Order: sequence, then C-alpha cells, then structure tokens
Amino acid sequence: MRTQVGIIGAGPAGLLLSHLLHLRGISSVVLEKRSRDYVERRVRAGVLEQGTVDTLVEAGVGERMKREGLPHHGIELRYGGAGHRIAFERLVPGRSITVYGQQEVVKDLIAARLAAGGDVRFEVEDVAVHAPESQPYLTFGGERLDCEIIAGCDGFHGVSRPSIPEGVLSVFERDYPFAWLGILARVAPSSQELIYTRTERGFALHSMRSPTVSRFYLQVPADAREEEWPDERIWAELKARLETVPGFTLTTGEIMEKGVTPMRAFVVEPMQYGRLYLAGDAAHIVPPTGAKGLNLAVADVRVMTEALAAYFERGSAELLDGYSAACLKRVWRAQHFSWWMTTLLHTFEDDDPYARRLQLSYLDYVTSSEAAATTLAENYVGMP
Ligand code: FAD
Ligand code: PHB
Repeated sequence: MRTQVGIIGAGPAGLLLSHLLHLRGISSVVLEKRSRDYVERRVRAGVLEQGTVDTLVEAGVGERMKREGLPHHGIELRYGGAGHRIAFERLVPGRSITVYGQQEVVKDLIAARLAAGGDVRFEVEDVAVHAPESQPYLTFGGERLDCEIIAGCDGFHGVSRPSIPEGVLSVFERDYPFAWLGILARVAPSSQELIYTRTERGFALHSMRSPTVSRFYLQVPADAREEEWPDERIWAELKARLETVPGFTLTTGEIMEKGVTPMRAFVVEPMQYGRLYLAGDAAHIVPPTGAKGLNLAVADVRVMTEALAAYFERGSAELLDGYSAACLKRVWRAQHFSWWMTTLLHTFEDDDPYARRLQLSYLDYVTSSEAAATTLAENYVGMP
C-alpha cells in the first residue's frame, strides 16, 4: 500500500491535516489505535481561538460549529471576593473565542473525511515508523504503508516522537505539583462566561459546552485519584471556590464524566526528523489554563499543509525544511502564556505569604491596567 502522507493519530491534528491535504489534492491514510466511538467521546478541550474557528470554516467543516458553538467576548477572573471581566470586545476588537467541544470538532472532521471517501482506519494495532530519514514507511497489524512523508499526530503518548533516534531532539519540560480534576455535568451553566477563579483552597474553572451542559475543573494534588472525589465532594469544593462573590450561586446537576489530567509543559526541538514531521501534542503540551493545546495543534497543521502543498505541487522543500522553526515561535508564545496563567491562578504548596501577596498584586494589576488586560486578552484569543 502507498500514500503520499501517512498520518499517525486521529485526534484533531491528524484528522484536520488529512482533510486539508485532501482539499489540496494530496492523498493520506490516517492510522488510529482507538475506536471511532472512543475518539468521538473523549472529553477534552473546549475553547477555540478565532484562528482555529476560521480554519475550520474555511475548510468547510464549520457548519455545526457555527450553529452550536458558543461565541464568547470575555472571561471573568475571580479572586479576593470579586469578579473582574476581561472584555475582549474592548481590548482586542473584532476578536473572540468560541466554546465548542473538542470531541465535536473530531466528530465533524471524521464525518467530513468519510463523506469524501477518506482512508481513516480505527483500532489499528502496533503502528511503527521505519526509515524516516530516507524512504519512510509505516507498519501496523501485519500491513505496510509506504509514504513520502510521515506526519506524527499521535499525541503525547504516541510512537512517532520516540521513533526519532536519541540525541536528535532537545527536550524542554516542566511538571506542575498539581493536576486538574475535570467534570462534565448535565446542568445549565451558572454563568454566561468562563470563570477562572483563584482561592486559598486552589484554582477552579467554570466552563460550559451548551445551554444544558457545564464543564468544571478543580486544582487537585498531583497524585489525586478519581475515587477520592465522589460527586458530593466535587460540588462542595466547586461551591467553596466559586461561590466567593456576593450573589453567585452554583447550580449542581448530574455528573456525566470525570477525569484527572496532569499539569505538564513539554516541547521538543526540532519538530521534525528526516521525512517525519510532528504536530500537536506529539511535539508539545501546555498546562490547560491558557486553553492553547488544541489551538496549537491546528496552527501546526496549517503550517504543515502549506509546506506539503509546496512540496507536492512545486517540488519545493523549503517550507518543509522550515516547518519546525515556523511552528516553534507560536509554540513558545503559548508556552509562556500558559505558564503565566497557571502561575497567576493556582496555589503552590511551597508559596510563603510573600509569594501569595505577589500573586494577588499581579492579579490586581492585570484586572486594573488596560495594558496588562490587553496582554491577557490578546494571548487568550490567539495571535492571528
Ligand atoms: P490527541 O488529541 O492526543 O490525538 C492523538 C491521537 O493519536 C489520539 O486519537 C490517540 O488515540 C492516537 N494515538 C496515540 N498513540 C497512537 C499510536 N501508537 N498509534 C495510532 N494512534 C495513536 N486545548 C485547547 O486548545 N483548549 C482547551 O480548552 C483545552 N482544554 C483541555 C482540557 C483537558 C482536560 C485536556 C486533557 C486537554 C485540553 N486541551 C485544550 C489540550 C487539547 O485537548 C490537546 O492539545 C489536543 O487534543 C491535541 O490534539 P492532537 O491531535 O495533537 O493530539
Ligand atoms: C474547557 O472548556 O474544557 C476549558 C476551557 C478553558 C480552559 C481549559 C479547558 O482553559
């Protein structure tokens, strides 16, 4: 079997790449180890930057997102007994974000690929990368797929990054001493906008998916286990952290989904080796406080599509050679923003009273200075 681009992973990166390549007349095969049902149900990100929305719309996969996605023109920072709105429409006019679940994006992309006769294979076993520096091919479940290019879109725990020989990649990473417990609940959001709240008990985030489904996150210890968090404990803790301004009541409901996510930052440089190119979480992850992971995956794929189009249409490898450098600029900006938001809003065990005062002082600055608020808004909605 032969294809132009062999894509490992049917997450947002792999599926979008396959779709954008199809629009350019470039063939691909997507190999995914999980089932279609599994990837369509995996609850993760929810915030789409303007650039991500524009990409999906331009690619013809934005119809349902335009109908069901929730446009947001601001977020709230809550701390010290008060809420402070970061107003995108004033600070970064014309730019906003859309709340639309990652698994909905994945569903839309799978539907588009299958409707166009795309080759997306689920439940594929033992994918392995071979000869990325010369004549690359993939093997899986006893089959062989010869490719001109391999795209490693298989997330943080995939096989493509570890297939690059030791010593080639520089690794930059940081583990945070806490995790996020995320839940999806069948209840109307208690707020119109996302609330990022900092309390002495830790951070919490109120997000949503639809007028009847809410999404919440709680900062929990790094070694927290789901079993330690029965529903009543989750609601009590969310109330303790969110009902911290006068007049705000959190409405509770049935918890449909629960999961603990480690908080970690990670980047490899370069994001390519021979004819193997990494995109999305395979190359970098950010703590979710800045809502950047999915958006970075989409940005990488945009860059990779242009580079592959130049290569296959004109035989020019220039953009492919510069792929990593082109992506890493945005990646590091997002790393810094995600680190900054995380540091601003979480409690750190070893923080002394002085460090806590500094954090509160910085929050006061961000919510009172037009320049500081603009920095937050500009990064949150994403660079064009
Ligand atoms: P993935 O989505 O991880 O896709 C990789 C795919 O590869 C998977 O389907 C996997 O099954 C498959 N795969 C893995 N190994 C193999 C193999 N060996 N063979 C074949 N297939 C394989 N980002 C945002 O932008 N905004 C947010 O609001 C946000 N919130 C988040 C909240 C949480 C709780 C979490 C966990 C993440 C959040 N993110 C957010 C990050 C975002 O979900 C990821 O950055 C995004 O999923 C990256 O997409 P990807 O396609 O690169 O990787
Ligand atoms: C989400 O809705 O899942 C979400 C929103 C904002 C974040 C992270 C996750 O920063």
